[in-house]
Amino acid sequence: MPTMNPRTLSLRALLFLGLWQIGRRSLASAPELQDQPKKIAVVGAGIGGTAAAFYLRQEFGAGVQIHVFEPGAVGGRLATVNIGDHEYETGGSVIHPLNLHMKHFIEKLGIPPRKNVPSKMAIFDGKELTFEESDWYIVNVLHMLWRYGFNFLRMHMWVESILDKFMRIYQYQQYGYSFSSVDRLLHAMGGDSFLTLVNQTTEEAMMGEGFSQIFLNDIVTPVTRVNYGQSVRINGFVGAVSLAGADSGLWAVEGGNKRVCSGLLYHSKSELIPARVTSILVKVRPSKTGTTTSFYEVNYVEESGPAHSLYDIVIIATPLHQGKSDITFSGFSPPIPAHYPGRYHQTVSTLVHGMLNVSYLGTTELASEFTVSDVLTTDSKDSVFNSLSSIDPVYIPQGYKRPPASQTKVWKVFSPKPLSLEQMQDMFISWDSVSETQWLAYPSYHPPHRKTPPFILHNRLYYLNAVEWAASAMEMSAISARNVALLAHHRWHQQVSKIDQEDLHIRLRGEL
Ligand SMILES: Cc1cc2nc3c(=O)[nH]c(=O)nc-3n(C[C@H](O)[C@H](O)[C@H](O)COP(=O)(O)OP(=O)(O)OC[C@H]3O[C@@H](n4cnc5c(N)ncnc54)[C@H](O)[C@@H]3O)c2cc1C
Ligand SMILES: *[C@@H]1O[C@H](CO)[C@@H](O)[C@H](O)[C@H]1NC(C)=O
Ligand SMILES: *[C@@H]1O[C@H](CO)[C@@H](O)[C@H](O)[C@H]1NC(C)=O
Repeated sequence: MPTMNPRTLSLRALLFLGLWQIGRRSLASAPELQDQPKKIAVVGAGIGGTAAAFYLRQEFGAGVQIHVFEPGAVGGRLATVNIGDHEYETGGSVIHPLNLHMKHFIEKLGIPPRKNVPSKMAIFDGKELTFEESDWYIVNVLHMLWRYGFNFLRMHMWVESILDKFMRIYQYQQYGYSFSSVDRLLHAMGGDSFLTLVNQTTEEAMMGEGFSQIFLNDIVTPVTRVNYGQSVRINGFVGAVSLAGADSGLWAVEGGNKRVCSGLLYHSKSELIPARVTSILVKVRPSKTGTTTSFYEVNYVEESGPAHSLYDIVIIATPLHQGKSDITFSGFSPPIPAHYPGRYHQTVSTLVHGMLNVSYLGTTELASEFTVSDVLTTDSKDSVFNSLSSIDPVYIPQGYKRPPASQTKVWKVFSPKPLSLEQMQDMFISWDSVSETQWLAYPSYHPPHRKTPPFILHNRLYYLNAVEWAASAMEMSAISARNVALLAHHRWHQQVSKIDQEDLHIRLRGEL
């Protein structure tokens, strides 16, 4: 149907075509049934790997065996620690209301969102609080208007316009479309403007849009610092993701975000192998039909010692970077490196059960009246931390109200380096327990970025975390998981029409 204009088709015709397509797909795949993959390996059981298992099951059906390798705790960078009788998030903590995959997962798994506890934000410049959110919305608006003019409104519109384009990915994936590289995925969402956005700093992008330097320093920097531990020199795309994260309606999962990962594993009926993958080899074997097929030999170390297994398809769902994972790839041509260029940024997450010294924040407010929940920071040599937050347990008790700073409670400090005893003594009057996690948290963003790693490492070997170089977030890993599952499926069945299609947002307009 080369000349058919999709926009002139009636709804009924579209429905008919849709059914016809489905019919054709099942007919065409019938004789290929023996050609379904038998075994798939997923390396890593964070939200990326477990979402990949979920979508692989959806694409390949009940017959395929799915093994998920994980030497540590299921959840990866979604993790909790125990303090007293409660658990608290120490890694990825908040989810945007428009993160549709995360939303879909909890609905599918029957896990409720966490009860919302209202928050209150302030900004600290290392000496004093330069801004403190009022309980009165109108006061906040007037304050911001007075100091920053229409920068706020413009920021809202800028983020909104990026979010609008971002949302297109859900429709593409709903229709089964996939993309062979991060650039193509970004281009499908936002065209050249998205490629430019990842290739310049947030500062450049926003200055180009007419935002003031003062606004960038006072407001945007604290937001990029709390989310990514870095300045407005991170790329414009991840900067916009940060600013979207300053929206209202953020949520988290009751009982801890990592519950989604174990839920997805269970739901996908995959097998969890508690082992570290050490190397992947490509093996070529003659097939029944006389041609050759390749398999991947996954070598791993479990408690009982080293072992290996063969797989038809392998998904790498952990960053291939220094300090994150060490996997050797052998027999590949061109070779696949164990580590791609670029490093991951360290963020130390310190949970302190103690009493804050509010004077440290340069405020004269009484601790008993200090109810700020999130202290963000400007980029100043005086700031030893990126953010300081009063945090709530993963299960919110009945009738819970966030206590004021005069009471002993749990504070979370994000800092680039571990806090020294002196720093702890400056910030806290007293404490009875401290839990520190040193994360290699997200990429250290320095646009323009040299080549982004590929999704396709080899014929049937895929790399999910390449997407983090555009932006690292739970939802980004989930989007990449679905993309990689679709890509694996379409490439297995040679459905090239579902890969790297251009102008999808025009072609699919009106279909939803
Ligand atoms: C402190 C912090 C705060 C954050 N805040 C937010 C937030 O508020 N909102 C948000 O959306 N995102 C946030 N993020 C980012 C988010 O947590 C990550 O983008 C996301 O969790 C990445 O998931 P993943 O599954 O792709 O990777 P990971 O969670 O890193 O999973 C990879 C898994 O692979 C395993 N692995 C490694 N090597 C091997 C091997 N050789 N063999 C087998 N398994 C291996 C690892 O043990 C790990 O479990 C934050 C991250 C951090 C660290
Ligand atoms: C609290 O901090 C202020 C300012 O840094 C300091 O002068 C004071 O001694 C601290 N109080 C306690 C009890 O540590
Ligand atoms: C990104 O920037 C580099 C260097 O400025 C340039 O060579 C490259 O073409 C740019 N890429 C895109 C996709 O804009």
